[in-house]
Amino acid sequence: MLVIHTKQELAEQIVEWRHNDEHIALVPTMGNLHAGHLSLVELAREHAERVVVSIFVNPTQFGKDEDYEQYPRTLELDKRRLKTATADMIFAPDVATLYPFGLDKATTVSVPGLTENFCGATRPGHFDGVTTVVARLFAIVQPDVAVFGQKDYQQQLVIRRMAEDLSLPITIITGETVRNDDGLAMSSRNSYLSDEERAVAPVLYETLSYIGQELQSGRRNFAKLEALAGERLTAAGFDVDYFAIRRALNLEVPDRDCDDLVVLTAAQLGAARLIDNIVITI
Ligand code: PAF
Repeated sequence: MLVIHTKQELAEQIVEWRHNDEHIALVPTMGNLHAGHLSLVELAREHAERVVVSIFVNPTQFGKDEDYEQYPRTLELDKRRLKTATADMIFAPDVATLYPFGLDKATTVSVPGLTENFCGATRPGHFDGVTTVVARLFAIVQPDVAVFGQKDYQQQLVIRRMAEDLSLPITIITGETVRNDDGLAMSSRNSYLSDEERAVAPVLYETLSYIGQELQSGRRNFAKLEALAGERLTAAGFDVDYFAIRRALNLEVPDRDCDDLVVLTAAQLGAARLIDNIVITI
């Protein structure tokens, strides 16, 4: 597996693969890879002969009081993990490589509408940072396919919209959330949880699942279900940012007969901001 840090080396390799008519899949990550990321790599492998995993902790998607400095950086461990998955290349640029004019003068890509609620409301500028860096990675790697995790449900919708709106010739694929045995979605931020908080954390997915069952069994009083879930999570010790039932397609408020729903939540537990969701097709 190649480990590449510069655009020049990357471009040379891409030219060679293209010359051999090989398709390229990109799995953008911020590193600290876990089983969730590895499943995205396996999924990417089903769609292309060559798989590039980018590892870059992107400063522009962190707010000024957020965890950019503390975010775990584990490149050596990630290299070992990716050898067991079948990645062809790690692309691990530094900040100056991805933002050659500096962070303040960087061209920004912004998707209005979809980014205004939920994580976008709580983390102003976050999605601009995500779309800005993903657009850069797309331009540099020029993949045929790019794979994102369903755990960041709003993010993958925003990226799909960006790709469609800019007519980018890239197929966006969403990989299922990988969970621990107790249901907690895999996330690098789980490492911020104390032992006590880690024992409480599965309540997030339990609550999503309970609301999912209620929806499946025909309940349609969305506001009541959201309030009930919020109470459960607060009682368990979460500081709930949002818990919402929305149209899976575009996060709009659903009407009663909508048969494609997403239940999405974000909640703070100690130092960890946890997000999760389930999609309900009725
Ligand atoms: O989901 C992530 O890890 C990041 O938001 C992404 C897509 C790699 C952009 O930095």
